[in-house]
Parts: sequence; structure tokens; C-alpha cells
Amino acid sequence: MSNVDIIVLAAGEGTRMKSATPKVLHSVGGLPMLEHVLRSAKAFGAVRTAVVIGPNVPAVEGFLKEHPAPIDIFVQTERLGTGHATMSAAKFFEDDKNANIVLFGDTPLIRPQTLDQIKSLLDGDADLVVQGFEPDSPTGYGRLLVKGGQLTAIREEKDATDTERKIGLCNAGAMGFAPGILNKLLKLLTNENAQSEYYLTDCVELAHAQGLSVQVVKGDAADAAGINSRGQLAAVEAIFQQRMRQQAMANGVTLLAPETVHFCYDTELEADVTIEPNVVFGPKVIVRSGAIIKAFSHLEGAVIGEGALIGPFARLRPGTELGEKTKVGNFVEIKGATIEKGSKINHLSYIGDAHIAPGVNVGAGTVTCNYDGFGKHRTTIGADSFIGSGSLLVAPLEIGSNAYVATGSVITENVPSDALAFGRARQTNKDGRGAKLKAELRAAKEKASKAK
Ligand code: UD1
Ligand code: MG
Repeated sequence: MSNVDIIVLAAGEGTRMKSATPKVLHSVGGLPMLEHVLRSAKAFGAVRTAVVIGPNVPAVEGFLKEHPAPIDIFVQTERLGTGHATMSAAKFFEDDKNANIVLFGDTPLIRPQTLDQIKSLLDGDADLVVQGFEPDSPTGYGRLLVKGGQLTAIREEKDATDTERKIGLCNAGAMGFAPGILNKLLKLLTNENAQSEYYLTDCVELAHAQGLSVQVVKGDAADAAGINSRGQLAAVEAIFQQRMRQQAMANGVTLLAPETVHFCYDTELEADVTIEPNVVFGPKVIVRSGAIIKAFSHLEGAVIGEGALIGPFARLRPGTELGEKTKVGNFVEIKGATIEKGSKINHLSYIGDAHIAPGVNVGAGTVTCNYDGFGKHRTTIGADSFIGSGSLLVAPLEIGSNAYVATGSVITENVPSDALAFGRARQTNKDGRGAKLKAELRAAKEKASKAK
């Protein structure tokens, strides 16, 4: 059994993304595509990982330097092909001790299982393993030339004859090399081809000529989807979302209209959660068992307790923690707030930087005024309190337990437990004055229109 080191090629930028962001940092499911590849390598059990990047891409370099796992960074100074890019990391594999798998940074859906398949062939008698697949349209991919059951060469689209272009079996990108093989073959590469590049794929023909065993693992076309354009980015996102939905349903989640639910890479939904149509998950969301997320809700950085009822049209922002059986209704926004067991905020409210104890009812249109233009301030509401509709709670503010805030109050001072707080002007009714006022206004309007 050989240990496997992974080399990820991420130096070839291309310009088709038309973006200030380097291609490999564009996200799929909220995670940079390069990170998807690195996570697959880690989940597979790569011993060491190297990434080859281009010159002058500080964003990618910074991303890799801050990465929690140690990553060897190599720079390919000129874009001279995938073989040349691999050579740029020669120091990484010069001791020839471990097997190597070369991956592409722009092919984020590669799964650990595929890497396992490559490894098991390398652990057998294979010297070189190629990940093959049959795409709907092979255009643009290297074709696998097979003779007598043997993979003899990979022919790049631009170098292929018309007959070779008709081959449907293509190179997906991942290539595995038994210990000692990569170094040996790379040294033999030339750039005599249509693109004057050093092709990593030429290793196959060289290996075959040397009588080495070259084998193919045939994988899922989705695993092989590469990204060179925004269109392909969207196509890969669609596959990723599809995988997340399938996974959620396999885990016991009900999705009423799966194709309308948008996941983030880290969305955690427990069994017996129900998600209605058109719900969007941003990063860091955990939804506990029995909770229902109603249609058109948007959640990020939120933990939703067991049996909670959210939405429709709720917006939960980072720092939201909702306890068991809480209710957050339509057009309610919550940020940086903990709402404890059984408390309800059912309509048209903003709750920010707050702590709401259990059993509280927050009436329609309540706003925690948490920002004074310079700093953020907290609001706390004690257990079993009642906040009347249309109240403005001006923070910093403490409302005790079992308190009652009268509807339409502007509360600027703390409210003790059990107190009734009125924070509104007293109403006066003037008999007959309403009808008189209407008559005056009507007359003024008629006079103005005659004058025109
Ligand atoms: C490559 C394969 C092709 C395969 C296809 C699968 C070669 C010669 N061709 O073609 O057989 O079917 O992928 O998607 O390998 N890169 C560098 N430095 C370079 C060139 C590329 O780091 O000088 C990196 C790119 O960032 C990318 C990867 O290598 O991550 C593949 O390069 P790309 O130009 O996309 O190769 P393809 O033409 O797609
Ligand atoms: Mg490509």
C-alpha cells in the first residue's frame, strides 16, 4: 500500500471568467472551488498536498498560506502546459517515495471515492491511472486512445485527427502515478504539439512505450466537470446543489420542491426538518429536528431549534440562535440575537443584538433600535414578557421578566419585571373637529383647481 501525495494544478488562469477574482477562488456552494478540491484530497487521506499557482496571484497565495492544513505552494512562472505546471512542483515529489495524484483546481466536484479508485489501481499493478469519462459532448477534452484493451495515449482535441475526435471516452483530468513514475516520465515530455505545451497527458504514451501498465478508472461525468467560464461555473453549481438536495433527503429531510432550495456547502439539516419551496441557505446554518422553514426564507449564520417554525419570508442573519419551538413569522429579520424556547416574533419585526428569554411574545412591527450611527447596543427581554405591537425598543435596554410594554411605545428606559410600560403620547379626541377639518381641506383643494 503506497501513501499518496496530491498535486493540484491551479496556475492556468484563462480569461473567460472576466473577473477580478482568480478563477479557483470563485465559489461553488459558497466555498472556493480550489477548497472543494483540497477537501476531497483531505477526505481521501492525502499524506501531503501541493498546489501549483501562477505568478502574481496574491489572493490565491494568501488563501493557501492561511489555510488550516499545511500546503506546499509552488509557482509556475510561465503557462507552458499541465506537464510543465506539474514539473514546477518537482521538489515536492523528487524523493519518489509516495504515489502521486495530479488534480485540477478548476474541477471542484472530484470526489474522494474517485481518488480511492485511483489509489487501489496504483496499489495493484498499475503504474499510471487516468480518470476517464464519457461526456455528453467530448469537444475540448483529451481523447483516450485504447488498443487491445490497453490505454495507449491521450490525444488532445487540438492534436487529434478527425477519427480520433469521434472517440467518446475522454480524460477527466485526475491522473495517478505509482512511486517513482511521475519524475521519470515528466523528464521525457516535449512540447511538440499544436499548442507548444508540455502536456501532462503525454505521460500516457511515454509510459505505454516503456511497457508500463496504464489503466483507466471510469467515473461519473459530474465529477469531471471543469470550470473555464461563468456558464460552466453555474453548471457545476447546479450539480453541487443537486448533490446537496439528494443528501438532505437521504438524511430524512423533507424538501417540498427540492429544485428551488439553495444550499451552502455546510448546511446542516437534521432528520424530520421540512423545507418549503424557495428557501436559501447561506453559510453556517444548522436546523434541528422537526423545524419547518416556510417558503421564501433566507438564512445564514443561524441555529434553529427543534420544532421551530420559521417564515414564510423570514430573514435570519448571522448570530441568530432560535430555541426549541420558537416562532419567527413573515417579514421578520433577526441578527445577533438569541430567542429562547417558545418565544414568538410573528410579524414584521427587526430584532438585532438581543436576548429574548423563554415565553416572550413580541408584537407585530416591533423594532430593536440597536444602532445609533456609531455603535451597536443590546436589548434584553426577560421571560414571559409581552411587547405590544409597533414598539420601538431603543437600546441599550433591559426589559425584565413578566413585563408588559404597551402597544405603540417608544421605550428608552429600562422596564422592571412585572411593570407596565407606556412610552407614547396621550390621545385626545376633539368633538366634531374631524368633519370640520375635512370640509376646510376640500374647499382649499377646489379653490386651487379653479385657479388653474
Ligand atoms: C486538460 C487535459 C485534457 C482533459 C481536460 C479535462 C492536458 C494537456 N489536457 O485540458 O486531456 O480532457 O483537462 O478538463 O492536460 N494549468 C496550469 N498550468 C498550465 C496549464 C494548465 O496550472 O500551464 C492548470 C489549469 O489551471 C487547470 C488545469 O491545469 O486547473 C487544466 O488546464 P486546462 O487549460 O483547463 O486544460 P484543458 O485544456 O481543459
Ligand atoms: Mg480545463
